[in-house]
Amino acid sequence: MKLKLGIVGTGNVAWHLSKKFIESGLNLTRLYGRQSRKPETFAHMKESVYRVLSDDVPDVDVLILAVQDGAVSELAQRFKRFDGIICHTSGTVNLQALQSEDYSSRAGIFYPLYSFKMGKELDWRRIPILLEAESQEVLHVLMELAKALGAVATTASSEARAHYHVAAVFANNYTNYMYDLAESYLSAKGLELDVLFPIIRQTAERISQETPKQVQTGPALRNDLRTLKKHEDALKEFPEMLKVYQFLADCIKERHS
Ligand SMILES: NC(=O)c1ccc[n+]([C@@H]2O[C@H](COP(=O)([O-])OP(=O)(O)OC[C@H]3O[C@@H](n4cnc5c(N)ncnc54)[C@H](OP(=O)(O)O)[C@@H]3O)[C@@H](O)[C@H]2O)c1
Repeated sequence: MKLKLGIVGTGNVAWHLSKKFIESGLNLTRLYGRQSRKPETFAHMKESVYRVLSDDVPDVDVLILAVQDGAVSELAQRFKRFDGIICHTSGTVNLQALQSEDYSSRAGIFYPLYSFKMGKELDWRRIPILLEAESQEVLHVLMELAKALGAVATTASSEARAHYHVAAVFANNYTNYMYDLAESYLSAKGLELDVLFPIIRQTAERISQETPKQVQTGPALRNDLRTLKKHEDALKEFPEMLKVYQFLADCIKERHS
């Protein structure tokens, strides 16, 4: 694919996308940011590719807005005269945010459902990219782009994408909060979280074969009151954890009653 690609933004997603575009031999010709110079963290890119964001019409075929959710509409308005494909990478902003009378048919969504942190290596082959566009032509271009990255390209409506985003908060952000609590508890006891890694991985692997409901184990599921009481006693000096423990124990009991 030799289309001229441009990215707006110099944050986590822009960093990973730009690096992967270059590694994949794609034609990334512009990176637009608000800083006066290319950020040092973008060492993988040539200085000449960088442009300070202005009202000039971007000279690319596909422009990816990898900016904060709240800035998508504002930038779409700013680039009203741009006549290429314009898309954003947000899980929550709908397609309409990019659409105006001027370029509704050229708008699309390129949402990688993954967690991006600048500087951290990642394997694009595991990353689902949820695509949306009204125009089949735009969809085709975005699909080819996702495939060129080696990612798992799939279409999803704005509504479906919003639902995936809610579910991802439970499946990723909230589970990580649980790891955080587990780690603080163990560290207060002079112990290491590493010992739990195998069981954490085991559950994560099992849910691709059985439903998470089937995989559920533990004292709340068994309504093992003696163990529940023992754990609550152990958590007396950790009020935040005790609250979460009791709430989740009740939720699990109710779900499996
Ligand atoms: N990070 C993730 O794990 C992840 C995963 C999937 C999708 N996404 C989505 O991808 C998008 C970018 O996320 P991110 O994590 O890369 O965010 P980020 O690291 O916070 O970077 C946001 C970028 O947006 C720029 N920006 C903010 N307001 C702007 C404005 N009014 N005009 C121009 N640029 C503006 C920032 O510029 P300055 O640096 O100048 O402030 C920065 O370069 C978001 O829509 C996010 O929901 C993120």
